[in-house]
Amino acid sequence: MGFGSSALEEMVSAPSVIHTDVWRDCPFFLTGHTGFKGSWLSLLLHRLGARVHGYALDPTTTPDLFTQARVAQALVSDVRANLNDAAALRRALAAAQPRVVFHLAAQPLVRASYADPLGTWADNVMGTARVLDAVRQVPSVRAVVVITTDKVYENPEHNQPFAEGDPLGGHDPYSASKAACELAVSSWRRSFFTAPDAARIASARAGNVVGGGDWAADRLLPDCMRAFALGQAVTLRMGQAVRPWQHVLDPLLGYVQLAQSLLSADGAKYAQAYNFGPDPSGQATVGEVAATAAQQWNADVPGANARVTLGDAQGQPHEAGLLRLDSSRARQDLGWQPRWDLPATLRHTVAWYAQAHGGGDAAQITRQQIDAYLEAAQ
Ligand SMILES: NC(=O)c1ccc[n+]([C@@H]2O[C@H](COP(=O)([O-])OP(=O)(O)OC[C@H]3O[C@@H](n4cnc5c(N)ncnc54)[C@H](O)[C@@H]3O)[C@@H](O)[C@H]2O)c1
Repeated sequence: MGFGSSALEEMVSAPSVIHTDVWRDCPFFLTGHTGFKGSWLSLLLHRLGARVHGYALDPTTTPDLFTQARVAQALVSDVRANLNDAAALRRALAAAQPRVVFHLAAQPLVRASYADPLGTWADNVMGTARVLDAVRQVPSVRAVVVITTDKVYENPEHNQPFAEGDPLGGHDPYSASKAACELAVSSWRRSFFTAPDAARIASARAGNVVGGGDWAADRLLPDCMRAFALGQAVTLRMGQAVRPWQHVLDPLLGYVQLAQSLLSADGAKYAQAYNFGPDPSGQATVGEVAATAAQQWNADVPGANARVTLGDAQGQPHEAGLLRLDSSRARQDLGWQPRWDLPATLRHTVAWYAQAHGGGDAAQITRQQIDAYLEAAQ
């Protein structure tokens, strides 16, 4: 299985170090592997030597990172089915016999949640409950990490960073559905996973992530990259909104470190919620990030004329204006820390799109960035 006890003990004594020998051949079950974060995570786990089984619907964007980066080649199995198909989910989990489950599959967009609140709750809340319930039937599973978001907190916009013990809430249907996921995790953990040898279940809360190959609608960097590639200005709503920005690989490595800790001898103490936010220097307004991205694009793409204009925030649905995370728990318990600061994050992200725009091989670009990141992390 790849988890020799000596390797595990060594790993736990130095949790911030990534031991690829520990992860080699470890079976993972990853929901949402065809999405943006799931594609990066599949490739990262593959790079660490793990055996990745995926469960998700088909990619929904055009283009999509899963196809562009040839993620299918990194998988042991690739099941396309709905989270709410309980029988298919149980079958896939039983066939994979995973040691670790990463649950990422969700309807992840705030604005889409206003258009389809019931669908968002069905996917995010009942989908998560079904994953947790399926895990009860498969004893090979030792650790589960459920991916929620920084938006799970009740947000009075008081400019204080949120810690894991702060009240859950959520104004829009997406945020509330993810807060409800946290309740499901807590309930299933306390109701069904209390035995000493039971699987350990944690949740992971990260904010807006950026990185190459995100083609989702209504996300800042994809909107910028689409406009710049067409030679058009990008128009911003909520240009003054402060967000915590981070590269997608930062929380993803955090999830891996969390799984490592859950698998350790005293792993039960890590079966709780963890924030994975950027350093305070990773906070910036939407306008600042867009302006830096435009500058970087113009430097990377010969003859480009990327630019930013401010749109009208009136009439837009409510979105939280300020979100900051206190990630001390992940730093102290897991030895986790962000590895790429905001300039490095934007440099790598814009470079990914610029190189792909210039005809570069997205699979190669993505793998090179993972290697560069792991080098920075070691
Ligand atoms: N991208 C971000 O900035 C961000 C920030 C915070 C949290 N998150 C969370 O991270 C996770 C991944 O987000 P992403 O940005 O990669 O999203 P994405 O839309 O790119 O990917 C979503 C994935 O979930 C799958 N999926 C959706 N509904 C499904 C269903 N009913 N059954 C089976 N599979 C289904 C899709 O097929 C896809 O593989 C989500 O849980 C999201 O809430 C993302």
